[in-house]
Amino acid sequence: MKTIIEPFKIKTVEPIRFTSKEEREKILKDAGYNPFLINAEDVIIDLLTDSGTSAMSSEQWSGIMKGDESYAGAKSFFRFESAVKEITGNKYVIPTHQGRAAEKILFSILGGEGKYFISNTFFDTTRANIEFTGAEAVDLLCPEGKKPEVVAPFKGNLDVEKLKAFIEEKGKENIPLVMITITNNSGGGQPVSLENIKQVRKVCDRYGIPLFFDACRFAENAYFIKKREEGYSNKSVREIVKEIFSFADGTTMSAKKDALVNIGGWLSMNDDNLAMQCRNLLIVTEGFPTYGGLAGRDLEAIAQGLEEVLDENYLRYRIRSTEYLGEKLTAAGVPIIEPPGGHAIYIDAKRFLPDIPPEQYPGQSIVCELYLEGGIRSVEIGSVMFGKYDKKTGRLIPAMMELVRLAIPRRVYTQSHIDYVAEVVIETFNKRDKLKGYKITYEAPMLRHFTARFEPV
Ligand code: F0G
Repeated sequence: MKTIIEPFKIKTVEPIRFTSKEEREKILKDAGYNPFLINAEDVIIDLLTDSGTSAMSSEQWSGIMKGDESYAGAKSFFRFESAVKEITGNKYVIPTHQGRAAEKILFSILGGEGKYFISNTFFDTTRANIEFTGAEAVDLLCPEGKKPEVVAPFKGNLDVEKLKAFIEEKGKENIPLVMITITNNSGGGQPVSLENIKQVRKVCDRYGIPLFFDACRFAENAYFIKKREEGYSNKSVREIVKEIFSFADGTTMSAKKDALVNIGGWLSMNDDNLAMQCRNLLIVTEGFPTYGGLAGRDLEAIAQGLEEVLDENYLRYRIRSTEYLGEKLTAAGVPIIEPPGGHAIYIDAKRFLPDIPPEQYPGQSIVCELYLEGGIRSVEIGSVMFGKYDKKTGRLIPAMMELVRLAIPRRVYTQSHIDYVAEVVIETFNKRDKLKGYKITYEAPMLRHFTARFEPV
């Protein structure tokens, strides 16, 4: 059969509240034209994030009842630890309440003034956790990854030549860690090839620099390797996952993505001394090492989710549903990052709204219009999220790309929901001449996109 169906039946449902366009105009204005400030109840289809928004399975919900809530040495911890070790192969597994808590611990220990951390592209919380210590976060993405219209199989790859040059320039002693983000969320959810991982590992070995993964979407990345990389089509996703992690010294993980749960994360590694320091900090900031920032039931749900995410029927449906939305949009001429990534479609706002300059945030304009038009909540990933101000002139230094992300929660929406999304985006595209730019009226000093307020210009 050609039709790829959702590989699950629906047992519990949650009603969607419908709003009229007039209601949405008021809601959006009251939210300062920032969808982060809209109440979830006022959203029809929520594509703000794929993080923590997964539908859990009946097995995961049963796990919630089985959760061992003992303070120390709970049975649920050992199930979690063994599931994470099975995937990462790492010696130490430290549970945290989410990804950024793992980042905070790792970079507090390794960071500091004069240090540089290198990635294909750091996610915004990861970058913030690095910069908070006074260190610099450096993105060395391959050239094709920066061109939304170029179709290439592994646009998340790290630029190996630039990596070597950067290490030579700054000195290996100033680079505590290289981190590969799989898949590359900020660059369009694009995968990284095993060949690239091997090359990066080689460079890291030459200079004695540890290699970590930001592993949030490791299963989606592995599926892309199976589909696109030579020599992997006959390997199971589980085997590919093992191979990926065999090249890493450790991971930070947000279980809110590819562990199919609503909260959780971990930090894993092989280094004895680093693990000891991380655990000590964990006790101060998160909790005892066998629960981190989580309840026993959360650990159970993660362990079960890690089993389910490697089911190839699930991954086939998952990657296909994102691709399906991408195909509908490109057929209508909507510019997106091609090919579609794993967890989201990224609209290229520069090409969608060529007449709105970065200073007027074209991505924000699309985000607002999608909400007004169809109650869809999406997120700007462009100069609102990553723009900086020139310290001397105060002028905006725009982000590399102006994107709007339509992130697809896992196992939540059906094909007809996605058809509706496509219709709303295409409708918005067809009246793009009427869209206006925005200006910021309030912003916080860090991670401003979460709380900024805007006005149309
Ligand atoms: N790394 C990547 C690549 C991420 O995408 C995220 C979260 C994190 C780290 C941090 O994890 O949220 O559990 O603290 N990304 C979400 C998103 C928020 O919407 O893309 P967290």
